Amino acid sequence: MSQQRTAFVTGANRGLGLEICRQLGMRGHRVIIGARELERGAAAAAQLQAQGIDARAVQLDLADSESIRRAAATVAAECPVLDVFVNNGGTFVEAWGTMPSAVTMQEMRATFETNFFGAFEALREFVPLLRKSPSARIVNISSDMGSLGNINNPESLVYSVMGPAYQASKVALNALTTLFAKEFKDTNVKVNSASPGWCRTDMGTQDAPLSVAEGADTAVWLATLPDDGPTGQFFSSTRQRGAMEW
Ligand SMILES: NC(=O)c1ccc[n+]([C@@H]2O[C@H](COP(=O)([O-])OP(=O)(O)OC[C@H]3O[C@@H](n4cnc5c(N)ncnc54)[C@H](OP(=O)(O)O)[C@@H]3O)[C@@H](O)[C@H]2O)c1
Repeated sequence: MSQQRTAFVTGANRGLGLEICRQLGMRGHRVIIGARELERGAAAAAQLQAQGIDARAVQLDLADSESIRRAAATVAAECPVLDVFVNNGGTFVEAWGTMPSAVTMQEMRATFETNFFGAFEALREFVPLLRKSPSARIVNISSDMGSLGNINNPESLVYSVMGPAYQASKVALNALTTLFAKEFKDTNVKVNSASPGWCRTDMGTQDAPLSVAEGADTAVWLATLPDDGPTGQFFSSTRQRGAMEW
């Protein structure tokens, strides 16, 4: 991996996405910030450039197919290959503690639109460019709350929290990780899920135990895996890059 590598991160104008870009940039990657509001993405890119990072922004709204296609075409026109794709953009729509029977279809659909359909479509659109990389790394940002093992384990902290639309969308995203990893098992493309753990962002609130840097760590590790690294697996910052049960 001696040549400069290019990484695209969705939902990267703030929070974990921006921190993942910062950490990848500090490791020498050229980073492309996917942002649904281009102005906010450009401001985030300027922030990284001020730290000496090669960064730029591209408009990408995960809930808008046309925007996803345009973003993939823009990147393809500028970059011969894409080495890293981080499916980070996400939303948590329902109120914490909403019981499954109280989730509205509007909440369920809005959540899946971004966290699952958008993540799938973005990944599918960027796959041709990723396949041109000598060693592509795809990271889907999941959650400890998207682990069925955690949801069903009374010993897990996740057992006592409830965000059904969000949780179902992350379980579904994890399914994409295993399915894409199977498709690419004999190639140079690795696909893994990363949970940032509970960390201090707008979504995680300032009550969370992990810093944004700690939360981003597992995703950055998976985005920079050597060729003998894992694929088709789920790791969490809660466990300092340790494996998480599906
Ligand atoms: N923080 C935690 O404790 C935690 C724990 C587990 C998993 N996660 C996951 O980590 C990822 C990042 O979360 P975060 O904590 O950094 O949250 P955040 O601070 O709320 O940031 C969310 C990011 O996603 C973007 N986004 C939302 N909807 C989008 C859409 N339709 N198209 C494109 N971008 C969209 C937001 O863009 P705008 O600025 O335009 O809204 C923002 O950049 C999410 O997938 C989340 O589920 C977070």
